[in-house]
Amino acid sequence: MTDFAADWLDLREPLDAVSRDPESIAALIEWSRPQAALSVLDLGCGTGANFRVLAPLLGEDQDWRLVDCDPDLLAGGDRRLQRWAAARKLSARAEAATLTLEGAERRYRIEGIRLDLTEGWERLERRAADLVTASALLDLTSAAWLDRLAQRCREWRAAVYIALSYDGQTCWDPVLEQDGWVRERHNRHQRTDKGFGPALGPDAPATLAIRLRELGYWVMLRPSPWRLGAEHDAMQTTLLSGWSRGVRQLDPRAADWLTAWTEERRRLIDRKASRLYVGHWDLFARLP
Ligand SMILES: C[S@@+](CC[C@H](N)C(=O)[O-])C[C@H]1O[C@@H](n2cnc3c(N)ncnc32)[C@H](O)[C@@H]1O
Repeated sequence: MTDFAADWLDLREPLDAVSRDPESIAALIEWSRPQAALSVLDLGCGTGANFRVLAPLLGEDQDWRLVDCDPDLLAGGDRRLQRWAAARKLSARAEAATLTLEGAERRYRIEGIRLDLTEGWERLERRAADLVTASALLDLTSAAWLDRLAQRCREWRAAVYIALSYDGQTCWDPVLEQDGWVRERHNRHQRTDKGFGPALGPDAPATLAIRLRELGYWVMLRPSPWRLGAEHDAMQTTLLSGWSRGVRQLDPRAADWLTAWTEERRRLIDRKASRLYVGHWDLFARLP
């Protein structure tokens, strides 16, 4: 089980979808065009947001493995995928762990796999994928884990599309004096071990890009920030609570100023007078 609640993933899904970098997506579509059938491995799939964005953009026949350690998210994902299919007039057929969604010109076979990616992923390694993908996962991982991921992708000759990796940049508007203190501590918290070994946090996307280049990949790394306006008050509030909690855990001495900062930020959000930028990167890589 992880700290990622389905409500939070639902809240962020529409903003994630519009924040993804269009050039990386265009390069992914271009790469996928000659492939009659595609096998895709989605790591840390949550409720399947990455599938819902990518599947309509790729070829007619797709085989997805959706991997997550959280059984509740996988189960919630199944329900969401069935609703998603119904809205697109696709038929849905469930057999054991595989859900097949089918329409006149499309067939998606989706296998939900419950697996902790911090432990051996031999079960995944037995079957090659054409595309390895993830969204909002990379910053949790470590250099050693990314090394292994890159190696495995290279052996499979798989393309790699990793979206929405946090890059350490946050910027509130209006600015408050303590914003920088919170950002520094939040980014330090990002680097604590999330089970994968010492987390790379904001350095993860560049680390993977370098590793893939060393392995002969052509790599594209592009910004995909969230630009949260006053109307995104629910998301701002959730981020604010999460960051305050993380900073408090890391630095219990921060209590007084942190409480005052959090209250002021909350007031601004409630008055619809707060905007927030959160930096991310999208990576697309393929072999020449
Ligand atoms: C921020 S969520 C992103 C979910 C989804 N990709 C999306 O974009 O909505 C991170 C996901 O990684 C999963 N995760 C975290 N650590 C994991 C691990 N050790 N093994 C498998 N999944 C993990 C969480 O359960 C969660 O679903």
